[in-house]
Amino acid sequence: PRKIFSGIQPTGQLHLGNYLGAVQKWTQLQNSGDDVTYCIVDMHSITIPQNPAVLRENIFEMAATMLACGLDPQKSTIFVQSSVQEHTELGWILSCLCTMPRLGHLPQYKEKSRTVKDVPLGLYVYPVLQAADIMLYKATHVPVGEDQLQHIQLTQHLSRIFNTKFGQTFPICHAMIDNHDAARIRSLRNPAKKMSKSDLDTKATINIRDAPEVIVEKIKKAVTDFTSDVTYEPEARPGVSNLVVIHSMVSGTPIEKVVEEARAIDTGRYKLRVAEAVVEHLKPIRLAIDEHLAQKNDLIHLLESGAERARQVAQQNIVEVKEKMGLGIYR
Ligand code: TYM
Repeated sequence: PRKIFSGIQPTGQLHLGNYLGAVQKWTQLQNSGDDVTYCIVDMHSITIPQNPAVLRENIFEMAATMLACGLDPQKSTIFVQSSVQEHTELGWILSCLCTMPRLGHLPQYKEKSRTVKDVPLGLYVYPVLQAADIMLYKATHVPVGEDQLQHIQLTQHLSRIFNTKFGQTFPICHAMIDNHDAARIRSLRNPAKKMSKSDLDTKATINIRDAPEVIVEKIKKAVTDFTSDVTYEPEARPGVSNLVVIHSMVSGTPIEKVVEEARAIDTGRYKLRVAEAVVEHLKPIRLAIDEHLAQKNDLIHLLESGAERARQVAQQNIVEVKEKMGLGIYR
């Protein structure tokens, strides 16, 4: 069976890009009969400054959101990264196998380092910790959005280096990225960019807990183009096509059918239809998030038992790594 692993940062709410590009797929993979593990990567989120009280809340909010989206702790291992210390241990080990030039050109670093004045070292080595997350569980498949591709490639690279130097240990993992545009949901304000939680234009991003009227407002203001037909042409018409993809994903309707059904209306009216579908789809999720957040003890219990399960695999694999490298004391 495949060993599936993925992670998400607990910085703020899930947005529609995270949801459609990753979490929705994660819930589907739970029923594939594979071994699935999903991690709230709090150690990654501190690569940019976090307020401790807010970070703690965000971790719980992310856990509640993952459950509300349909992740089931009976089927998936769900845990918080910092509860399993082997992540940082393997992260250090891998950082000793990784050259500096290999990291400097990676997109997430280039993007984020522009927004902070003094760039923390952690932001630079961030992708190495991500590789450690994946390798620690010897994951074979990593479901992510398109923006993570280069981080997965780094993971493959570090796995090969380790295997070559110290003997076959890690599988070469495979990035599971949707081939149509759900892997890259675009900003509503600038379809050349991906939807992102750090976007300064608040109308660019739909958050999963946005109120219905806020969602309607944001989609009404979505940037399209001067053609009023509704078509799916991601290259020529990225704005409208993005709405078509969102519409298709939230309504579970194939893209061709969505376009066919919108033949008689213009983009202005179509936006209202998309907004309605998004509101409809997110409503039960929004309510479920509130319910899960109200049961904090249940969340804590679930994350603790998830960490316990993850730790067993992590400990076994880190021992193997250290032994192969000559670290520590072994008989
Ligand atoms: P993060 O927290 O930024 O995003 C979580 C997931 O959402 C996807 N995503 C998108 N998909 C489609 N369209 C978008 N506009 C969009 N924006 C975000 C991301 O691709 C991701 O799959 N470095 C990772 C977290 C991480 C990780 C890992 C992932 C840490 N360790 C190990 C996989 C395996 C990140 O920052 O994701």
